[in-house]
Amino acid sequence: MKKRLWERFFCCVCCAIVSSWMTACVGGAERKYYEGAQLYQQHCSNCHMEDGQGLEALYPPLAQSDWLETVGVSAACVVRNGLKGAIVVNGVEYGMAMPAQEKLSAVEITNILNYIHNAWGNERAFISLSEVEKTLEACAAQ
Ligand code: HEC
Repeated sequence: MKKRLWERFFCCVCCAIVSSWMTACVGGAERKYYEGAQLYQQHCSNCHMEDGQGLEALYPPLAQSDWLETVGVSAACVVRNGLKGAIVVNGVEYGMAMPAQEKLSAVEITNILNYIHNAWGNERAFISLSEVEKTLEACAAQ
């Protein structure tokens, strides 16, 4: 009898561990980069939309954006300083200006970048805080 109870307990522990692994895997970028997802909702989704598809000819997409993929960590400067002038994203030209978001800290920008680089089918390498700090120093000096 004692042994059976112990076996049951063991089984429950295993189930708990396996199911927590599974939810961690299934959760995707929203779960993995939770902070970044929240910040994205607050500061970016108005224009780039919740699904990262942008808005028609006004706001470029971040989902599968060739522009974002090419710039990688330098997107930190776009977030901090905004962006002006025409750019081409996935073959479409966009000409509106993106406002600077000077209040966002390097930590917040790191979280946002990791989220947008890994949400909506994007799958890119992890960006560290120190990379973002160096990038921001370089673009502040310009
Ligand atoms: C007021 C609307 C607006 C907000 C808010 C905004 N953007 Fe943008 N974003 C734009 C526009 C417009 C452009 C195109 C700028 C240009 O053509 O020079 C752009 C361009 C970009 C680009 C480069 C092009 C691309 O699609 O890959 C990135 C990356 C980007 N934004 C990320 C962000 C992130 C991250 C946030 C939130 C921190 C954000 N944006 C908030 C309007 C906005």
